[in-house]
Amino acid sequence: MNRRDFLKGAALAGTAILANKAAFAAEQAATPAAPAPSILPGNVPLVTLPNGRMIPQLGFGTLWLKEKSVASVRMAAERGYRLFDTAQGYGNEKEIWQGIREAGLVRSEVFITTKISTDNMRKPPQKACIERSIEALGGEYIDLMLIHWPVRDHIRETWETLEDFVRQGTIRSIGLSNFNPHHIDDLLAYAQVRPVLNQIEIHPYHSQEANIAAIRKYGLVVNSWSPLAQGKVLSEAALANIGKKHNKTPAQVTLRWAVQRGLVVIPRSQNPAHISENFDIFNFSLDDADMTAIAALNRNERVNPKNDPDNFPW
Ligand SMILES: NC(=O)c1ccc[n+]([C@@H]2O[C@H](COP(=O)([O-])OP(=O)(O)OC[C@H]3O[C@@H](n4cnc5c(N)ncnc54)[C@H](OP(=O)(O)O)[C@@H]3O)[C@@H](O)[C@H]2O)c1
Repeated sequence: MNRRDFLKGAALAGTAILANKAAFAAEQAATPAAPAPSILPGNVPLVTLPNGRMIPQLGFGTLWLKEKSVASVRMAAERGYRLFDTAQGYGNEKEIWQGIREAGLVRSEVFITTKISTDNMRKPPQKACIERSIEALGGEYIDLMLIHWPVRDHIRETWETLEDFVRQGTIRSIGLSNFNPHHIDDLLAYAQVRPVLNQIEIHPYHSQEANIAAIRKYGLVVNSWSPLAQGKVLSEAALANIGKKHNKTPAQVTLRWAVQRGLVVIPRSQNPAHISENFDIFNFSLDDADMTAIAALNRNERVNPKNDPDNFPW
């Protein structure tokens, strides 16, 4: 498979449409498939989603980039990032696509994740806002669209609308964000198209050991958001010490810890040096002692205590 077409060629290997929850349960795996050998710049591995499509394990986050969105995405794409994470709520879908194009990439060379916003979930029918996202992101298709938050009373209608787009072929995969296992159970009672991934807050201050294991039991790939805890963990002495041993920065050590846990990671930066160093994490390994020392930083602490999916003001 050539690099330019890596995503175009990643056709549905498994069945995306499921008869019911029982069929889903029968197909689920306890652990995600090991990343495939990389064909991407920077040796970024590809992780296989439950429907057979592939997502790069390292991507670029775009929250709060605002007017820096185009320039930051262009720098990231030029550096080699091929996964871009945006959301209707970030207000920058158009800018993400513009940055990708300015870097000279074509649609099939990148994987774009977006998310339906809580506001749009509350304003059914959701079809029009999804069409606007497709248009903003190049006009052809979306690789992965997530339900951003489990907004009470609006999940089923949103999911069934997303399923229609999968059947039409204008969204390739659909998934979840900030779903706890009980939210997933509810959704699987009616889902006809299986979710492929759950994007949740994970970083050394909130390592989410038990939640990751629970989500993987559904066969879902786990994607960490705020992998650097929005910069808050980076002054930890433990990370600096481990970094010294490997000649890496605290940010690189933190991201490497996440990828060695099998997570998809999407750090955000508008600083060219940071964008570059965050991409340079597939040429060293943390040993067991390093992994344990980073896990010991856990405090079950979110970047914002309000971001608890069970107590969110929905
Ligand atoms: N699904 C959800 O509900 C949800 C929620 C939050 C975030 N997300 C997604 O996850 C992505 C990442 O999370 P995030 O944006 O919250 O935070 P993050 O990636 O954990 O951290 C970003 C912060 O770290 C700094 N930083 C990045 N690389 C650095 C480096 N090498 N050295 C020092 N500082 C560095 C950045 O500053 P500089 O710009 O100066 O480098 C920025 O202040 C988001 O952008 C978004 O796409 C999803």
